Amino acid sequence: MIQIGKIIKKVPIFRMLGKESIDFIVERLKFKTFSPGEAICKTGDKGEEMYIIISGETDVLVGEPGKEVVVATLKSGDYFGEMSLLTDEPRSATVLSKAGCETFALYKNDFDVILERFPSIALSMTKIVSQRLSDTNKKAAKMPKPEDIDAKGGKGPQGDLKDIALVDLISFCESNSLTGTMNLVKGSDEGIFTFERGNLLSIKMGDVTEDAALDTMLGWNEGKFDITVSPLSLGIETEESEEDEVKSILIVNNSLVVRRVIERAFKGLGYIVDTATNIADSITKTASQKTDLIISDVKLSDGNGVDFINKIREENDLPFIFITDDSIKPEFEEELKQLGNAELTKTHEVSEIVKIVENTLL
Ligand code: CMP
Repeated sequence: MIQIGKIIKKVPIFRMLGKESIDFIVERLKFKTFSPGEAICKTGDKGEEMYIIISGETDVLVGEPGKEVVVATLKSGDYFGEMSLLTDEPRSATVLSKAGCETFALYKNDFDVILERFPSIALSMTKIVSQRLSDTNKKAAKMPKPEDIDAKGGKGPQGDLKDIALVDLISFCESNSLTGTMNLVKGSDEGIFTFERGNLLSIKMGDVTEDAALDTMLGWNEGKFDITVSPLSLGIETEESEEDEVKSILIVNNSLVVRRVIERAFKGLGYIVDTATNIADSITKTASQKTDLIISDVKLSDGNGVDFINKIREENDLPFIFITDDSIKPEFEEELKQLGNAELTKTHEVSEIVKIVENTLL
């Protein structure tokens, strides 16, 4: 058990966890080996588990059968198979064991339990998943190109659903911060996805909306798509931009991973972002630079959320957003809320945090 713990501790997504947490994870891992050339998972299959490589290497292949290309080679300490567990989509790639490999498998039920208990793992995985999607997208020859999204608005990329999975198209729109719409047409059915700065705002297909519409369209493997970039929203932005100053956010968290993931997301949305690790550091920063909002952990090395708010409020009535988890005591949650101008969220989903920030800063 101790040996496995040592191996797991070297895996980047688990590096920040303590011994007890590592033991909790280790108990849920199953040792699995694969022979040279063996397919560990295949594109389109249902994902039941993810794998952490202990030794050996695997190739990740995408593309139509017979035309696959290797998009990545993974080695000891890397993991794969996480995407379908996170999205409930079929496997996005085929993964082959090269000269044989040893792995730890983590099944969906245990994966869900672990992510719920250690949300920071989900955060760091989100980062890797976006990177993987973006790598895959770049290599997939038929993928639309980011330069096809013209900031001035107008017609963007278009193509055939036979060539590109809907899930990849959505990810393309998100990663290119699309403001506009993506239309899907299959026979007489038509669906429309509306995005704002890469956030998916709505999905409609006739009278059907949101998840139900998405579920139907995910099943379409033929039909056409076309993306239209909205000139209107850019116009609105230009009109408002004279009064609309760029907002500054301070992210306060012990974990470098959490700080980086949230920082990256907000920088991508055009915010000015700074980070701090504790209350003292934050006080120095808010005193010397413009800060419009603080996103913070509730437990910091030099105090908790209430201490933090009280210190800041001696000088400033800044809004706070606290990222918590289920372990927070209800009375503490109540105390924080009563201090006012403070939101609490139990989600570590960056898109949710963005929504709360945008509502708070409206
Ligand atoms: P999943 O879709 O569940 O199954 C195939 C796995 O291959 C996928 O999860 C990722 O873990 C991995 N994968 C897909 N694309 C890439 C990529 N571009 N780079 C590295 N790994 C990838």
